[in-house]
Amino acid sequence: MTAPASAPGAVDAYTAAQAVQDASVGHGARSFRLWRGADGSGAFTDYTTEVNEGMVVLDAVQQIQAEQANDLAVRWNCKAGKCGSCSAEINGKPKLMCMTRLDDLPADEPVTVEPMRAFPHVRDLVTDVSWNFRVKPRIQPFTPRAPDAPDGTWRIDQRDVERVQEFRKCIECFLCQDVCHVLRDHHLHDEFIGPRFLVYAAALEMHPLDVADRRSELKEDFGIGYCNITKCCTKVCPEHITITDNAIIPLKERVVDRHFDPLGALVRLVRGPRKP
Ligand code: SF4
Ligand code: SF4
Ligand code: FES
Repeated sequence: MTAPASAPGAVDAYTAAQAVQDASVGHGARSFRLWRGADGSGAFTDYTTEVNEGMVVLDAVQQIQAEQANDLAVRWNCKAGKCGSCSAEINGKPKLMCMTRLDDLPADEPVTVEPMRAFPHVRDLVTDVSWNFRVKPRIQPFTPRAPDAPDGTWRIDQRDVERVQEFRKCIECFLCQDVCHVLRDHHLHDEFIGPRFLVYAAALEMHPLDVADRRSELKEDFGIGYCNITKCCTKVCPEHITITDNAIIPLKERVVDRHFDPLGALVRLVRGPRKP
């Protein structure tokens, strides 16, 4: 919208009041505070850009990059909430930039965009998430039992198939890792694999064909005991995976059964080690 030019002072009146009204209905000038800097140091830089109805935060960041800050570093790929690349902290909350609509953020205050805090900072909005890719190979891979039929096929209860389906929706955005206080505040990356990889371990442990036993590693090497079920990870997951209730708590129960159940230990002694 352009300012009415009929009276002296009209432009000032527009910028003060009409801009807020325009922004509240999805168009007009909006203010952004983007984190600029490298290697962990930096500061917010203020920008103003024109937005339209339906724009997401990534649209605005790209527009600022194109028109005002060509050297702004920002990572994205799919712009459809599926690659997990555009994770950031928007107004202090871990979110995907490409799935956060400007219309859903308060129109009367600047939109702040910062890099994730649980991983080393590279530049501007980009962090180095490679630690996550080193964690994954440490988890025992899928180990299927022998086929149930001579033709090499298995028989599986549909309920067991459905139980692990939600874990497979993970897009590895690492927003859950970013919000988890064990990684973010206590920096226990060497001792705790984080919610994303507890989801991955749950998908394997609960898979109806898998026979590997990851319970000792979960306790000794992957730090499942550090999770105190705050559920912050579940709240930020863009795929709405019920990380805590459906993955972490059942894994904790299995670890407890394995290590602290004297009756279970006796049964295992008699019949040999076997996965529940
Ligand atoms: S529930 Fe556990 S894994 Fe999830 S954020 Fe809280 S401490 Fe971290
Ligand atoms: S579990 Fe959810 S929040 Fe965590 S990495 Fe996967 S999609 Fe992202
Ligand atoms: S760009 Fe792929 S999830 Fe945002």
